[in-house]
Amino acid sequence: MNNSPIGVFDSGLGGLNVLKELIVELPNEKYIYLGDTKRFPYGQKSTESIIEIVKENIEFLIQKGVKIVVIACGTATSQALDVVKNLYDIPIIGIIEPTVLNLRERIEESNNMIGVIATKGTIRSCAWEKKISEYMPNAEIISEAAPLLATMAEEGWTNNKVAEYTVKEYMKIFKNVDKLILGCTHYPLFKELMQKELPHKTEIVDTGVELAKYLKKKISGYDLETSNTEIGGYEIYLTDVNEEFANSATGILSDYIDISQINKVEL
Ligand code: DGL
Repeated sequence: MNNSPIGVFDSGLGGLNVLKELIVELPNEKYIYLGDTKRFPYGQKSTESIIEIVKENIEFLIQKGVKIVVIACGTATSQALDVVKNLYDIPIIGIIEPTVLNLRERIEESNNMIGVIATKGTIRSCAWEKKISEYMPNAEIISEAAPLLATMAEEGWTNNKVAEYTVKEYMKIFKNVDKLILGCTHYPLFKELMQKELPHKTEIVDTGVELAKYLKKKISGYDLETSNTEIGGYEIYLTDVNEEFANSATGILSDYIDISQINKVEL
């Protein structure tokens, strides 16, 4: 048992989609969320820059006393997790392996065309392809970078005409997939628009949902679950605070977030 908080970070608000699912699965845990809004977007940055940024984010969360770090960002997971996971004394978890492990449990042999949509950096790294091929060698994989979506999400453009046209364009190559993995944590904000463009049988896989289910199973194995029986709650830290974030966070977490509740941090 351990009553310290769980640290969660992303380049911006995408990781809130992961935090929301963690709160569903592990409501008694406390969370510290770091949104690195000053350095957003991560999607086009070099691997070297991503590794440096990820180390700084993890070290900030460790200073806050967290017992586990969740990298709630596909770009950071794909390029930095393997490098950083053995540098610290606490478990560091990304979104890729939990998603692929869960998918392997529920995928059928005949139902194995998997699409991956993510940022440019994630697609360039081939991290999803490598993990899927390792655990599901028979799967056929189609992947595509969607560099506009994370920026549109940060702007709150998730349900207007521009979002509709952009999603329509990005969905064209996924018409035949059985599963579409949202390899960037900002993308669940476009899930409804995506579903409209895809056949009903296509399952859209939300990595936040998968990660939260995985961590729920794992946390007692690490002997790190809380003994708290109340709702744990969360604190939000941003490297650049703006009103837009508070509004979007309110929408995602279904909890009113006032800008004064958001802490500013220098990294
Ligand atoms: N939410 C992030 C991801 O999962 C990245 C968006 C960005 O910063 O480009 O990849």
